[in-house]
Amino acid sequence: MQEHIIPHNFSVDIEQLKAIKNHNPFLIWFTGLSGSGKSTIANALNQSLLEKKIHTCILDGDSVRNGLSNDLTFSPEDRRENIRRIAEVASLMINHAGLVVLGAFISPYDRDRKRIKEIVGSDKYIEVYVSTPLEVCEQQDVKGLYKKARAGLIKDFTGIDAPYEIPRTPDLEINASTCTIEEAACIVLKYIENKLMRD
Ligand code: PPS
Repeated sequence: MQEHIIPHNFSVDIEQLKAIKNHNPFLIWFTGLSGSGKSTIANALNQSLLEKKIHTCILDGDSVRNGLSNDLTFSPEDRRENIRRIAEVASLMINHAGLVVLGAFISPYDRDRKRIKEIVGSDKYIEVYVSTPLEVCEQQDVKGLYKKARAGLIKDFTGIDAPYEIPRTPDLEINASTCTIEEAACIVLKYIENKLMRD
């Protein structure tokens, strides 16, 4: 806690939010290489959750890096700060808005993913490792970024000249090259069904 910062005791609390929305709020965190399918799976899941009247918010690398984190590079320190900011935003959305937050970020470092869990609370964090292999991501190269990274036009590109630390204990692992996006979203939906139910 920062010195001289005394939190206000807001009268709307998380229990009230759960009662109104009729579901638990938490964070579903998709981690994986660029082009692995993180945002696409999160988008399909978001659609299914909205159809079930679950209140959600979806955040991904491209949207956050165009605004909240537009001052940050892809150095290890800046990625750390990027992930910290997003985790804090997710925590506010959970505790002050009662939302199910879907986050799709490369988040390549183990210590940064551990920090998200600490910030939002381990009971409110579900980690989905989208394990689509580098060869597949690079071959599809939807945004043309791998080609640029191989040509040396983008530095510190994850999987090329920057590391991706494989999650050791994710809640789920999904290789998007072995199933459809709908199947992938369905796997996550099944996994979170009980967690959604208000306690
Ligand atoms: S991180 O590592 O979690 O802070 O990255 P993230 O905020 O998710 O941003 C990833 C998106 O930024 C684009 N991009 C890069 N990715 C990796 N390395 C480098 N150097 C880089 N430069 C730009 C890329 O489009 C990523 O989007 P996704 O959706 O992952 O493909």
